[in-house]
Amino acid sequence: MKPEELSAAAPYIIQQDYSTYTGEQQAVWAELVGRVLPELEKHAAQEYLDGFQIIGLQKDRLPNLQSISARLEPRTGWNSTPVSGFLPAPAFFEMLAARRFPTTTWLRSRESLEYTPEPDIFHDVFGHVPMHSHPVFADFLAHYGRVCASISDPGVLEKLGRLFWYTVEFGVIRQKDEIKVYGSGLISSHGECRNVMEGHCAIHDFSLDEVLETPVKVDELHKLLFAVHSFDQIYEAMHEAEQRVVLDDL
Ligand SMILES: [Fe+2]
Repeated sequence: MKPEELSAAAPYIIQQDYSTYTGEQQAVWAELVGRVLPELEKHAAQEYLDGFQIIGLQKDRLPNLQSISARLEPRTGWNSTPVSGFLPAPAFFEMLAARRFPTTTWLRSRESLEYTPEPDIFHDVFGHVPMHSHPVFADFLAHYGRVCASISDPGVLEKLGRLFWYTVEFGVIRQKDEIKVYGSGLISSHGECRNVMEGHCAIHDFSLDEVLETPVKVDELHKLLFAVHSFDQIYEAMHEAEQRVVLDDL
């Protein structure tokens, strides 16, 4: 789907002007990556680490979104589309349904290495995009967008937002009896990742019912997250959620 075919999202789509990144910004990117990558090599899901290589992320240079997308699109149909900032829900869902991940192009400053209130290119690309190279995760995320784009009930969207939060943003997976992170909020935050790895966060086996009933808290480190045993599980959970929406039973 071309930008002009997106109706709700079209006003938010921009170009990434790579030439405007400064040497300081390149250095901040390298520092951000350098402080989390050693932990991720131990604690991230292998699918994330594979995706990092597949999309050609570099440790010391900000990503060029066209190059990332050129490597990603042939594999799963996803690309990384530059946007001006926070998107209203209909535009966000429309883009996910079209396999275009809305990606911010600004980068946090050195003073806010650990946290930014709004996502930046480090959260969006380093945190999210590697998983889009995984075929099952890629299909799950597009399906999530398709279903949400068709819903207007705020209560239903809030519940589906919890599914997104506890998978795409803060998902963990159990692999060979170890907890590994794959959610972008864990991948792109030293503190959040360490909170899980140091055992300060309870991990329940993923259950769609429990996820849908667990409110999101954004102002503290997580005390509870949900581990899947494979990415097929979130794909199937999304289909189950869709069935519940159809039956008006979410
Ligand atoms: Fe995110």
